[in-house]
Amino acid sequence: MKAVVLGSGGWGTALALVLLDNGHDVTLWSRNPAKAEELARTRENPLLKGVSLPEELHITGDLNCLRGADLVVSAPPSFAVRETGRKAAPFLKPETVVVSVSKGIERDTNLRMSQVFREAAGGRCRIAALSGPSHAEEVGLRLPTGCVAACPERETARFVQDAFMNDCFRVYTSYDIVGVELAAALKNVIALSCGICAGLGFQDNTKALLMTRAMAEITRLGEHMGGQRRTFGGLAGMGDLIVTCTSLHSRNNRAGILIGQGKSVEEAMEEVGAVVEGYYAAESVCQLAEREGVEMPICRCAYEVLYRGKRARDVVSELMGRTGKDELLGTTWL
Ligand SMILES: NC(=O)c1ccc[n+]([C@@H]2O[C@H](COP(=O)([O-])OP(=O)(O)OC[C@H]3O[C@@H](n4cnc5c(N)ncnc54)[C@H](O)[C@@H]3O)[C@@H](O)[C@H]2O)c1
Repeated sequence: MKAVVLGSGGWGTALALVLLDNGHDVTLWSRNPAKAEELARTRENPLLKGVSLPEELHITGDLNCLRGADLVVSAPPSFAVRETGRKAAPFLKPETVVVSVSKGIERDTNLRMSQVFREAAGGRCRIAALSGPSHAEEVGLRLPTGCVAACPERETARFVQDAFMNDCFRVYTSYDIVGVELAAALKNVIALSCGICAGLGFQDNTKALLMTRAMAEITRLGEHMGGQRRTFGGLAGMGDLIVTCTSLHSRNNRAGILIGQGKSVEEAMEEVGAVVEGYYAAESVCQLAEREGVEMPICRCAYEVLYRGKRARDVVSELMGRTGKDELLGTTWL
C-alpha cells in the first residue's frame, strides 16, 4: 500500500517507521524542503534519538508525493491541521483513508482534528483518528505500545488497524471517534496542570487527585458531546492521561513544571522549545465547555494560569476550597 505521512515531527516520523516496518511504500513529507533534505541526508530525526531512518523511507518536501496514496497520516501540530488539509486537498481521492493523529481542538471553531482536516479538504476523503498512550520516542525504539483506531465506519477502522498493527504496535478499533479525539485533546491540558502541581512541590497524592478528577470532567464534556463513557476509561482516555501526566517525555508536563516553579508561560514555552499542545487546548477546551454549559473546573483553572496571569498556587487553593461534592454525582444514592 502507498502511504504518506504529512508532518515530520517526532510523531509523524515514528508512525512512518511503523508503516515501513509493516512493508508499506512510505513517504514522509515535511513542509520545510530544507528539513526534508536534511532528514534524507542524515537519516536521523533529532527528535528520535538513536533511531535511524532506513533508505527505503522516502522523504520529501513536495506534495506531489500524495498522488495515488491509499493512506495519508495527518501529523502536524494541531494549529496547522487546517492548513495541511487545504494543501493536501487537491491530491486526495474519495477513497483515500486519512488518519488524523494530531491532538487538539481548533480555536474558535471548537472542531476536533479529524473534522478540521476533512472540512479543509472539502470532504474529499474517509477519515479516522489514531490515538493512545504513545510517546514517539518509544514507538521509534519499537517498544510495545497500544493505540485505538477510531472511525464510525467499521471497515475504515479495520483498514487502519491492519495498516499499523504489528508485534510492537498493537491497535484496537473503535467507532467512537468523538470520544477518542476529545480525550486526546483534553489530556494535554491535564498534563500541563499535573506539571504545574509538581513544580509547586506537590507530590503523588495531588497528582492522583488531579488526574482522577480531571478524568471526571473530561468524561463529562466527552459524553455531553456524544462520546462513549467507556472510551474515557480506555487507551485513548485514561491510558493517554497516565502516560502524559507521569512522563518527562511529555512537553506539556515539562512546561507545567517550569510554570509551577515560577517561570512565566512564555519562558516555559521557550525553554521546552517545541509545540506545547496543552497550552492551545486550554483555551479551546474552555471555549467549548462554556459554549456547551459543561462545568470543567480544572481546565478553567489551567486556562486562568496560562492566559489570565493567575498564580498557580492561588488556583490550587481555589480548587481545594470548592464546596464538598458527591463523587458519583448524577446517580441515585443507594
Ligand atoms: N510526540 C508524540 O509522542 C505524539 C504522540 C501522539 C500524538 N502526537 C500529536 O501529533 C502532533 C504532532 O506532534 P509531534 O510531536 O510530531 O510535533 P513536533 O513538534 O515534533 O513536530 C511538529 C512538526 O510539524 C511541523 N510544523 C510546524 N508548523 C507547521 C505547519 N504550519 N504546517 C505543517 N507542519 C508544521 C514542524 O516543522 C515539525 O516538523 C501533535 O498534535 C501531537 O499532539 C504526538
